[in-house]
Amino acid sequence: SRAAAVHDGRLGFTAVPATLRDAVTLAPEYEMRVLYPWGSPTGVAGRMPAFAPDASNSAADQALQAGMHHDGMHFFPLEGRADRGLLVMNHEYTDDQLLHAGGAAPWNEEKVRKSLHAMGVSVIEAELTDEGWRQVLPSRYARRIHGATPMRIAGPAAGTPLLRTAADPAGKRVLGTFANCAMGVTPWGTYLSCEENFHVYFGGPRETTAPPTEAQRRYGTVSGNSWTPYWRFEERFDLSRHPHESNRFGWVVEIDPFDPASTPVKRTALGRKRQESATCTLTRDGRLAVYMGDDSAFEYIYKFVSRDKVRPGNDAAARVANRDLLDEGRLFVARFEAFGRGRWIELCHGLNGIDAASGFADQAEVLIHARLAADIAGGTKMDRPEWIAVHPATGEVYVTLTHNGARGKPGAPPVDAANPRADNIFGGILRWREDRRDAGGTAFDWDHFALAGDPAVPGSGTHYPSDDADVFGCPDGLHIDGGGLLWIQTDMSGPAMGKGPMAALGNNQMLCADPATGRIKRFLVGPSGCEITGCTVAPDRRSLFVNIQHPGETREDGSGRPSSAWPDGTVPGSARPRSATLAIRRRDGGIVGT
Ligand code: FEO
Ligand code: CA
Ligand code: CA
Ligand code: CA
Repeated sequence: SRAAAVHDGRLGFTAVPATLRDAVTLAPEYEMRVLYPWGSPTGVAGRMPAFAPDASNSAADQALQAGMHHDGMHFFPLEGRADRGLLVMNHEYTDDQLLHAGGAAPWNEEKVRKSLHAMGVSVIEAELTDEGWRQVLPSRYARRIHGATPMRIAGPAAGTPLLRTAADPAGKRVLGTFANCAMGVTPWGTYLSCEENFHVYFGGPRETTAPPTEAQRRYGTVSGNSWTPYWRFEERFDLSRHPHESNRFGWVVEIDPFDPASTPVKRTALGRKRQESATCTLTRDGRLAVYMGDDSAFEYIYKFVSRDKVRPGNDAAARVANRDLLDEGRLFVARFEAFGRGRWIELCHGLNGIDAASGFADQAEVLIHARLAADIAGGTKMDRPEWIAVHPATGEVYVTLTHNGARGKPGAPPVDAANPRADNIFGGILRWREDRRDAGGTAFDWDHFALAGDPAVPGSGTHYPSDDADVFGCPDGLHIDGGGLLWIQTDMSGPAMGKGPMAALGNNQMLCADPATGRIKRFLVGPSGCEITGCTVAPDRRSLFVNIQHPGETREDGSGRPSSAWPDGTVPGSARPRSATLAIRRRDGGIVGT
């Protein structure tokens, strides 16, 4: 092909075709090992319960094992090494049919606890051996943070009335994090985990629940939305009894992976949303900028800029020096104007129409109800912003807009310059360049890197940055490695995969793009029913870690049987499918993606 003819030392691998094969299909120049599938011991010394294939592990076991639905992830080197480090990863949600022996029904207190323990974050240690990457067991760093782990609430909203509950009258301590989707990493070596679809764990008896407020409706914290009946067994999840508990979720959570005794901290200065990604970069004058998506249809892209400069280093001393850096700063929402310009509008009480008259008592309420403040400020309603990545050399910022079938429908927002397709089923990738390349600024240029989808589908309106790009749909995970290669991961919904307009796109997959040339090549395709999400590259760029989330999720043959048994079985029904991490290397040990 033409792509092979213009080999330039980047994307030098053999692209894999789109496929519906129930297996990981990887570029042939690469090899992989499966690490840390759901239920694996995390590695806390003396407390390493083995995975029970019949799902009979207890809730207490689950609190010491890999959670379900691996998502955002980062590799933190130990002592600067590329062959030994900490893998920190999110566990987004649970498939309760698979999690419990005998399935989800009937729910009970033990199942609620096990489900809470199967979400959150894992810290595991991994090392490269002659046989490839393996988990280090036990490890003094090993830790499970889950839906009942005590954590601190910090920043301007901490302790304010909307965050106070009966169990925590001070409004500064909360149990747990869950719905952890995408992530970020700070320059000082902490991990940022993002609480996305937290609302679905709250519920209550409809007849005793007060009519929801505008904010509760907007955040989805209303009875009848819940995926699970947690509220019947743990009263903090009952919206009718504890209406503020749900305000304590939807935040960015900062975790020090190097100190297993540290208390995770929810950073309210960054605003509350269905948080997806918290991508950090430095401003010209050395402060921190954090780019964030809010993954719901017609929600916004945000930026936080710290008040103080980052103290350099990423060791223990730097983590102490920057301990409170994320608690003071300014929050902005993005407005994408026509003609490729855009600006950041500050969400500050007393500015841009945000005040008592428009429904905000103070800045704490602006942060807790950031979506409502962003409406007033005039942000642009996007087609579901997910991951954000910053190019290390150019400073360009890339965001996935995964899809939004409601765009342009009657009663819904119309198309606009940044979200140009009605019934946007395929999604795309948008990018911007801050003026003066300063992430601390308030204006930028933007364009579309890709309007995804199958160009052969009539009216698909696709646009790719090169004629020979491999095509994809519903981009979600996004990572730019130290060499400037853009890794794209997809999340087409299970029932849509392989059918109708998605027929030619295969299973969910990962592609590698070279922003300098616009070339895009398909690097791997996942097993049936999975999403590919979470991507981190070791500092020497010779190892790549990727998460396979919910293999076998689709159950459409009427039997209720998962569509995959990956990674333990090759025939659906032969084993419980398990989310897991892939450790990928080039067979010749070379730099990944080149
Ligand atoms: Fe959990 Fe928006 O992906
Ligand atoms: Ca996602
Ligand atoms: Ca998604
Ligand atoms: Ca998913």
